[in-house]
This record gives sequence, C-alpha cells and structure tokens, in this order.
Amino acid sequence: MGFIQKIKDEIAVVRERDPAIHSAMEVFLYPSFKVMISYRMAHRLYRSKHYFLARLISQRAARKTGIEIHPGATIGKGFFIDHGNGVVIGETAEIGDNVTLYQGVTLGGTGKESGKRHPTVCDNVMISAGAKVLGSFTIGANSKIGAGSVVLEEVPPNSTVVGVPGHVVNHDKVSIPRETLDQTDLPDPVQEDITLLKKENTELTSRLLALEDEVRRLTSAEHAGKEKE
Ligand SMILES: CC(C)(COP(=O)(O)OP(=O)(O)OC[C@H]1O[C@@H](n2cnc3c(N)ncnc32)[C@H](O)[C@@H]1OP(=O)(O)O)[C@@H](O)C(=O)NCCC(=O)NCCS
Repeated sequence: MGFIQKIKDEIAVVRERDPAIHSAMEVFLYPSFKVMISYRMAHRLYRSKHYFLARLISQRAARKTGIEIHPGATIGKGFFIDHGNGVVIGETAEIGDNVTLYQGVTLGGTGKESGKRHPTVCDNVMISAGAKVLGSFTIGANSKIGAGSVVLEEVPPNSTVVGVPGHVVNHDKVSIPRETLDQTDLPDPVQEDITLLKKENTELTSRLLALEDEVRRLTSAEHAGKEKE
C-alpha cells in the first residue's frame, strides 16, 4: 500500500472515531494521526532491521505526542488513540483491527517474561483511560477494559473487565454478579464447551445403553414366544 493511501486511511480512522471533529484539517492536529504516520514508517524500518532509525523516528514522535509506540509492535488497520498522552505500547505487543485506546493506557510487560512479553489485543477491543495490560496473554475480540483497570490475565472474547486486578463483569452481554464472581479463575469458553459436550455425551451413552437393553429384552421375548409355538 502506498504512503499517500496510508495517510488517507489514518485520516478516515480519526474522522470516523472522534465525534468531536469538525473538519478534515483538524485531523492533522491529532496526536493519534501524527504518531501513526511515524509508527508506520518506523515499523517498516524495524522490519528491515534499521533499528536505530526506527527508534529515532518513534522517540521523536513520542516527544511530540506523548504516545510511545515501540517500532517492533504490530498494529492492524483502524487503530485509534483518543487524546493519547501517556500511552505506551511495548515491542512485542500485537494489535488487531479497529482497536481503540484512550490516554494513559500501557500495553506492557511484567518484567518476568522474555521473548513475547507484551499483550495480544484482538479486533474491536476498547481499552479505557489509564488501564494497564501487563503480560503476554490475549485480550479476546470485542472486549472492553474499564478505566483504571490493571489486567494481568487472559480475557475471553466479548467480555468487560474492570478493577485492580482486572476481573470479568460482563461476558457475552451477560452480567456476572459480584457476589458470585470467581476473581481468580476467569471464564474459559473453551473449557465450558468441553464440559457441556462431556455432559451431553454421558446422557447419550446412558440413553443408548437403555435402548440396547430394551431391544435385547424384546428380542428374547420374541424368541421365547416362537419357542412356545
Ligand atoms: C468498562 C466500561 C467500558 C463499561 O463497559 P460495560 O460493558 O458497558 O459495563 P457496565 O457499564 O455494564 O458496568 C459493569 C459493572 O462494572 C462497573 N464498572 C464499570 N466501569 C468500571 C471501572 N472503570 N472501574 C470499576 N468498575 C467499573 C460498573 O459499576 C458495573 O458494576 P455493577 O455490575 O456492580 O453495577 C466503562 O465503564 C468505562 O470504564 N469507560 C471508560 C471510557 C473512557 O476511558 N473514557 C475516557 C474518555 S476521555
């Protein structure tokens, strides 16, 4: 994709996402727009191993916008940072399409991991003002992270997470009441499906055994009838 097209795309993202904007010219004043133009250049340089130049561009952009995106981070289409100040995105962070961040968000590491140290944020996620997401786990698609949360564990898709440490309060649009909330084990949709399948399998097996018994009983009654004749 050409550079002009990339600029057009970034303008479209800001216009679409911020209801407070009045004219296309205003887009050029947005920190999100400025930082993303720099990031796209820096990331390309990083990928071709021009690490110093890449960092030079990203650090200059950080000074101008207050948003620090490591050039190694991977960011999809339609990414928007509202307001922007204090946002930090680490080197191994991976961000899908149409993700929105607010000011003060950190996608960082815990300092305990090596290699992939930063989060993976799937499509359509919103991370609210001041939230910290720390570690190499995944935030599932369409999830929302509440303002000021500190998220330290995997988040299933379609969830709302709030608090310190972050816990799921809504999942698939169903509210999870506080009093029954298990704060250590977040819901695991795959495990829930496996449990449901096991239950169905046990029910089907017992119905099949009952049917086999019934067939056996009928067959032997039939035999007994024939022998009498
Ligand atoms: C999390 C958020 C996105 C709402 O998501 P939602 O799925 O609609 O969640 P709800 O509003 O139904 O809230 C669910 C529960 O979490 C609580 N909650 C919501 N946001 C919270 C937060 N940031 N911290 C702690 N608890 C929060 C609500 O009080 C509610 O609790 P209850 O079930 O006991 O009543 C929103 O509250 C939020 O944090 N928005 C911030 C957006 C932002 O950064 N704006 C900055 C603009 S400059």
